[in-house]
Amino acid sequence: MADELAGMRVDYGRAEADEGLDVGALAPTWHEQLRAWLAAAEDGGVVESNAMVLATATPDGRVSSRTVLCKGLDARGIVFYTNYTSAKSHDLRMTRWASATFPWYAQHRQVHVRGPVELVADAETAAYWASRPRGSQLGAWASAQSTFVRDRRVLDVALAGVTRRFADDEAVPVPQHWGGWRILPDEVEFWQGRTNRMHDRLRYVRDHGGEWTVRRLAP
Ligand SMILES: Cc1cc2nc3c(=O)[nH]c(=O)nc-3n(C[C@H](O)[C@H](O)[C@H](O)COP(=O)(O)O)c2cc1C
Repeated sequence: MADELAGMRVDYGRAEADEGLDVGALAPTWHEQLRAWLAAAEDGGVVESNAMVLATATPDGRVSSRTVLCKGLDARGIVFYTNYTSAKSHDLRMTRWASATFPWYAQHRQVHVRGPVELVADAETAAYWASRPRGSQLGAWASAQSTFVRDRRVLDVALAGVTRRFADDEAVPVPQHWGGWRILPDEVEFWQGRTNRMHDRLRYVRDHGGEWTVRRLAP
């Protein structure tokens, strides 16, 4: 298997047109460019095209990564929802920094975002919560995300419990332990695979005054 792994590679120029990415072709803002690439990934049939790998760290530098779904995107930043008592939320509360990567391998693309984080306002969380299926809402109540559980039965019993608890309620309320985080990017890099590993990397960078510039990086 080790030999097979070493031999595995995709030539980005062979299968697809070697479409490059140039500064002049980028949208004026990182969020418009990201929205365009998200739409292209969705149109291209990427499964869960809004999935991104979120990296966080403890104050002493122990890094973790996991997938979350991007549920909001505008000039302010990128929003995802989670349990506020989870391991990732603990990291974010302590360090206030995150990075996230959208991996669109079929399109030979990735977008990498870095920046500080903030909590999403309660009203915004509530609006998104209301759009979730009831089953997902009950699941959020039933699961103390990132804690150890003895077996699957513990989770099934917890779900049955909250299902009974809210059976008579028309709307399931937002749990206090659940809500959104927003990454406020100061760097957003768009990566497009090219032939001979001479890929394009274009990075929007925000300076201290809040002005954005685009810089090219060596692949
Ligand atoms: C495709 C996919 C999407 C996911 N989306 C979310 C999400 O939006 N929010 C979330 O809390 N966990 C999501 N998860 C689960 C996380 O990857 C992770 O297991 C969970 O949040 C616990 O992470 P933590 O213990 O590091 O905090 C998703 C997993 C996958 C595979």
